[in-house]
Amino acid sequence: MSVQDTNTASPLAPEWLAVPADLNALTPPMWAGSVQRNDAGSLAVGGIPVQELKEQFGTPLFVMDEADFRARARAFKDSFDAAFADICGGVDVYYAGKSFLCTAVVKWVEEEGLRLDTSSGGELAVAARAGIAGERVALHGNNKSDGELNRALDMRLGRIVVDSLSELVRVGDIAQARGEHAKVMLRLTPGVHAHTHEFIATAHEDQKFGLSMAADTTDQGLSAAEEAVAAAAAHPGIELLGLHCHIGSQIFEPDGFALAAEKLLRFLAAMQEKHLISMPELDLGGGYGIAYTPVDTPRPAAEIAEAMAAVVRSTCAELGIKSPRISIEPGRAIVGSTTFTLYEVGTLKTVRVDAPGTLNASDGGNNVTYPRRYVSVDGGMSDNARPVLYDADYSAILASRTSPAAPQLSRVVGKHCESGDIVVRDVYLPEDVAAGDLLAVPGTGAYCWALSSNYNYLARPGVVAVRDGSARLIVRGETEEDLLNRDMGA
Ligand code: LLP
Repeated sequence: MSVQDTNTASPLAPEWLAVPADLNALTPPMWAGSVQRNDAGSLAVGGIPVQELKEQFGTPLFVMDEADFRARARAFKDSFDAAFADICGGVDVYYAGKSFLCTAVVKWVEEEGLRLDTSSGGELAVAARAGIAGERVALHGNNKSDGELNRALDMRLGRIVVDSLSELVRVGDIAQARGEHAKVMLRLTPGVHAHTHEFIATAHEDQKFGLSMAADTTDQGLSAAEEAVAAAAAHPGIELLGLHCHIGSQIFEPDGFALAAEKLLRFLAAMQEKHLISMPELDLGGGYGIAYTPVDTPRPAAEIAEAMAAVVRSTCAELGIKSPRISIEPGRAIVGSTTFTLYEVGTLKTVRVDAPGTLNASDGGNNVTYPRRYVSVDGGMSDNARPVLYDADYSAILASRTSPAAPQLSRVVGKHCESGDIVVRDVYLPEDVAAGDLLAVPGTGAYCWALSSNYNYLARPGVVAVRDGSARLIVRGETEEDLLNRDMGA
């Protein structure tokens, strides 16, 4: 026996997924500012319909709204500046380039008054090509090579964020040998648990990043963090700017950030007093969450800024210290929602599935099954690895037209040779979605292009930026020739 498809929620859908009242409507927090349906029913960005983008640039395609990127960058800078004005004269905002980086983006970041956070020699190469002043660039990484450290010194970076004692000594020695000082921050793990996926939570003890603040982690009975502070203060090649932490990613509640800020301020004050040093800067990292699905409720930058400022203000007052200059490193919250991925639909199939937790006929159940439709698109885990890596949920909408058809629970999958190659695990799409339709998946600006691969020899998609009603490639898509170029022959 099978159950008729209806407009009611499918028992196969997760609890959080409601049947949309209007399948053709856009849920605002997931989409960039200039994305709308035009009069013909097509999704359009900056007035350009998606069919035009497909004709000009092909699919899959990352479609980015430049004005939206700039607005989100400015919102972080302005809100944090305003909230911290009386505390430390404003905040330095470092855009986390690992989320998405190319030279055009570095230009936008600079023009909006932000700085740039990098985490490898390759990201430094992009920064150098874009011509941003080294003073406005930071370098991260838990395993920087001597080459990367020398490059950082060559570029006169504003800060190198040191991750371990051995790296501290290495960077100090390299700088000293060059007759220079390296400007250094120490990355600490404050032990704050961020409520996010294990692989993107970074401030707990048992992981590879940072210096532990837990007492007794060294032979001398000090914390690794204190040992590094003392070593930095004593090393002639090091100028110790201050402390850094990053508690994780895709975090909605401000309390984790505020708690980390408080812990680091207490530690900073104690270290300044004990070691008679001054640490004028404190970086509180990135990690601010965005909406991937209709149930995600990100906080406006101003709200997070206020919550963090309140804790910094009161902690500094209690400790009787002048607040260090605060900096932050948002990536996803600036670029994530600026972009959607445009895909073309190919193969469709519907399977019938037992509802979760029910018995099938051979186990003595009644064998009621429900439909799940698989909608295959022309990309997949090579342009969005996040569902596979982090069980990340996304949403999708029929982009090339509107449809009056009933909602059908669908799973958007890629074209790779893996059954786990899922783009959107659960979404209601119109039941008349057919081959040749275009789908748009919002929220793909961060950690999608950046994590993309050539699995199955798929060419990585290009990135198009739309501004003032015109679209231009800021990263061109790969060609088959690109794919074959590095093959050295038989
Ligand atoms: N600062 C540091 C030191 C970081 O390690 C990161 C991210 C950021 C800032 C920026 O975090 P955001 O504001 O973008 O959350 N691939 C994962 C995320 C990895 C984050 C790595 N570090 C994902 O796709 O969710």
